[in-house]
Amino acid sequence: MTDIDVRVLTDEAEYRAAHTVFRSALHHAPAPDDKWEVAKGSYEPGRTIGAYAGDELVGGTQSFPSALAVPGGAVVPMAAVSRVGVRADWTRRGVLTAMQRAQLKALREGGDVAATLRPSEGAIYERFGYGVATRYREVRIRKREAAPRVPIVGRVRLVPVDEALPLAKELFERLSPGRPGTIARWPGWWDVRVAHSEDKDRLRFAVCSGEDGDDGYIAYKVERGSWDRGVEKPTVLEVMDFWAGNARAWADLWGFTLRVDLVGEVFAFGRPLDEPLEWLMTDRRAVFVEDVADETWLRLVDVEKALSARTYGAAEPVVIGVRDRFLPENEGAYRITSSGASRTDDAPDFELDVEVLGAAYLGDVSFSALAMTGRFAGGSPEAVRRADKLFAVDEAPWSGTFF
Ligand SMILES: CC(C)(COP(=O)(O)OP(=O)(O)OC[C@H]1O[C@@H](n2cnc3c(N)ncnc32)[C@H](O)[C@@H]1OP(=O)(O)O)[C@@H](O)C(=O)NCCC(=O)NCCS
Repeated sequence: MTDIDVRVLTDEAEYRAAHTVFRSALHHAPAPDDKWEVAKGSYEPGRTIGAYAGDELVGGTQSFPSALAVPGGAVVPMAAVSRVGVRADWTRRGVLTAMQRAQLKALREGGDVAATLRPSEGAIYERFGYGVATRYREVRIRKREAAPRVPIVGRVRLVPVDEALPLAKELFERLSPGRPGTIARWPGWWDVRVAHSEDKDRLRFAVCSGEDGDDGYIAYKVERGSWDRGVEKPTVLEVMDFWAGNARAWADLWGFTLRVDLVGEVFAFGRPLDEPLEWLMTDRRAVFVEDVADETWLRLVDVEKALSARTYGAAEPVVIGVRDRFLPENEGAYRITSSGASRTDDAPDFELDVEVLGAAYLGDVSFSALAMTGRFAGGSPEAVRRADKLFAVDEAPWSGTFF
């Protein structure tokens, strides 16, 4: 590889240059001044890395300060890695690899237990230790056939966007960490995705409340349909963000979306795999699952802390050996028991790469499935089944936050 100097960027001019490199890698023009004014708030000190060839910036990546809810309810510090881009005339020369190496090291030194990203393509990040740890589904409900089985029991009210923003933030922070896989949102997330989003004028917020006050909200927009030579394109209510603190709030909010007039379909992107939406309908065939896709790509940056942070199911212990080409500090054997996890000198029952452990960590995929597909080898089926039971979770892990 040509000499590349990878370093932490320090001032606004450098952040803006990195922003431009990233946008150009995604085939967008540089951000105009007004857009940059909004975006610059999401460049936090010490969290942007640039790759230089001489004095030219040819690649960049950054991370947002976040946190991850893990099985058992603990929340660990996590970096949300984003804006990864290499200039088109510098790709496939190891620039991303050099940036990954520097970024992972910096994140570990900074105390992050994990890192996560939402990649543009599926074939890039496993080599750096990221595994798919949560998935989501996209659902479309045809309103004509859809009637919720239960009435709205609480109260659902529309709140103007400017008032809704602090309320949504407060509700999100209160309601979201219940499920493993949910992540903390950083201030720039709300600025870029809501307060200054291109859809801001079309965003609607519905907040629901029960006997104990507000306990859920949705953010949605409506895409108007049309008639073209007798063919109807339905008007679609698109649910962008949906958080409910209990079953009543959940049913009330779905019930609300299905009662908005002049809407043909309700569409929701990124919902949990185990959301029982079909069971809410009088006709379950009103619900179409359009996609099931990877959501969280998870990288365990500090394996020991990550394994110690979560709880485990009831099963006999297993010893897992971990390989990590980018963070050798993680290499070694870990003993997992129903009461916790720790490093051990015992011989491992089986060994795997850190991205395979990352995939299994939140319980979305079993070790048996990973062994069956050749993601690791060497364990007896009985030891692998013990690992399955220890890592099993009650709720499908899910993040619910796209960035
Ligand atoms: C994706 C991107 C960041 C890769 O950067 P890069 O500097 O070319 O990556 P590297 O040269 O370090 O490649 C590392 C390895 O990943 C592989 N790789 C890189 N990009 C890949 C891709 N898009 N698909 C499949 N493999 C890829 C390389 O072949 C190489 O494999 P090897 O280790 O077996 O030799 C760069 O191509 C880019 O900016 N693309 C457009 C923007 C984008 O997709 N950003 C990612 C947003 S998450």
